[in-house]
Amino acid sequence: MKTSHSAFFITILLISSFSLPTHGLILNGLRIGSIKINGVLYCSFDGNLHGNSPPLSGAVVELVCAGARTDLGQVVTNPAGVFVILVKLLDTVLFDPSICFARLNLPIATCAVIPPDGALTASLILANIVQTVLGNIANFTVTPFVNSVL
Ligand SMILES: *[C@@H]1O[C@H](CO)[C@@H](O)[C@H](O)[C@H]1NC(C)=O
Repeated sequence: MKTSHSAFFITILLISSFSLPTHGLILNGLRIGSIKINGVLYCSFDGNLHGNSPPLSGAVVELVCAGARTDLGQVVTNPAGVFVILVKLLDTVLFDPSICFARLNLPIATCAVIPPDGALTASLILANIVQTVLGNIANFTVTPFVNSVL
């Protein structure tokens, strides 16, 4: 009797989770309204900090996701090499951070040591979720950049 009761309860849970809106993004049980991606690029052979690599200023960084044809947002690094991409998620957009990257298209005219071909890409790592009156912001940092031909 007890097991059939819990099986019934699990079934109800499954049905209610399947009937939630399928779009948007839920992280740690919070509905995410915007995402923010923070990173720094340096003028080095892979875009990461090595020794005293100077910052990579004025470079265009895009947020791209596998399967998406367009970038979701793009920004330019500041004089310290810092970029912050802020994207408001629409309910109609299915966003999966595990298949999204920060991408720097190559070559970069202002940095001779950076590779000439392909792109530098970095995966997203969830740092924290900031709750504001305008909605929850998922705040991401990035892994080290790697050179990719994509
Ligand atoms: C977001 O994460 C970055 C990187 O960990 C951190 O420097 C920044 O302070 C965070 N922002 C907020 C509002 O918590």
